[in-house]
Amino acid sequence: MTLYETIFTRRAVRQYDKTPLEDAELAEIQQVLDGAKRLPGQSGRFEIVNADKLKNASSPHAILAFSDDTDAARANIGYTLQTLDLYLQSKGYGSLWMGMAKPVTPQDDYRILLAFGKTDTPPRSSAGDFKRRAVLQISNEDNDVARAARLAPSAVNFQPWKLEFAPGKVTVRYVGRGLGKLVTLQFQKIDIGIILKHVELVLEHEDKTVTGITPKGSGKSFAVEVAYA
Ligand SMILES: Cc1cc2nc3c(=O)[nH]c(=O)nc-3n(C[C@H](O)[C@H](O)[C@H](O)COP(=O)(O)O)c2cc1C
Repeated sequence: MTLYETIFTRRAVRQYDKTPLEDAELAEIQQVLDGAKRLPGQSGRFEIVNADKLKNASSPHAILAFSDDTDAARANIGYTLQTLDLYLQSKGYGSLWMGMAKPVTPQDDYRILLAFGKTDTPPRSSAGDFKRRAVLQISNEDNDVARAARLAPSAVNFQPWKLEFAPGKVTVRYVGRGLGKLVTLQFQKIDIGIILKHVELVLEHEDKTVTGITPKGSGKSFAVEVAYA
């Protein structure tokens, strides 16, 4: 399955087979992680670890993400690791973004982790299985990009985003939403990066070339502009 196709079948997987993956499997995942695109000007730091380095995770492995304390750096984590979320599920593994799990050793620049491992949890069978806001609640247009992008995962399924389409351009705007905002606030800029990866994959699926991805503003007015031809 391609990453694009996996947009329509992935899910948050919370039950894992504790058996660790083979070294060769982990090496391949490391290779995908090394090759996953970063946002322009951003790098972040990512580390694959085993369960003994994790608190509150039920998976045999996870990718820990570290970054600077900026909105763009957080969005970069979402954008980079959503490639891995989709890749892992395209290969039949389970994966889960986890804000509530932590590495055993605290580090100031730690932001979030993506848990993964083997699972019996089946993938979704279609876009109809997702619980998401209606397209026109999160987008100024009802089109294929918005319909697929809206399936992106977010902390507490909050979907803190709005898509604005203009000729040759989609702006992903941060929208802090209602109750629960405070709990998930630290993860919502990561969420913006996650949906950004979906937007890019769908544009590419439609044979568009993404010519620029530009983070703008910060805090409540944070947005990322995606230009394409
Ligand atoms: C940044 C982020 C943090 C998350 N943290 C947790 C978590 O700590 N525990 C958990 O069970 N799920 C967590 N999730 C999973 C979301 O609850 C889940 O993605 C969302 O409800 C949508 O469901 P789906 O992924 O099956 O489509 C997190 C998701 C994201 C994107």
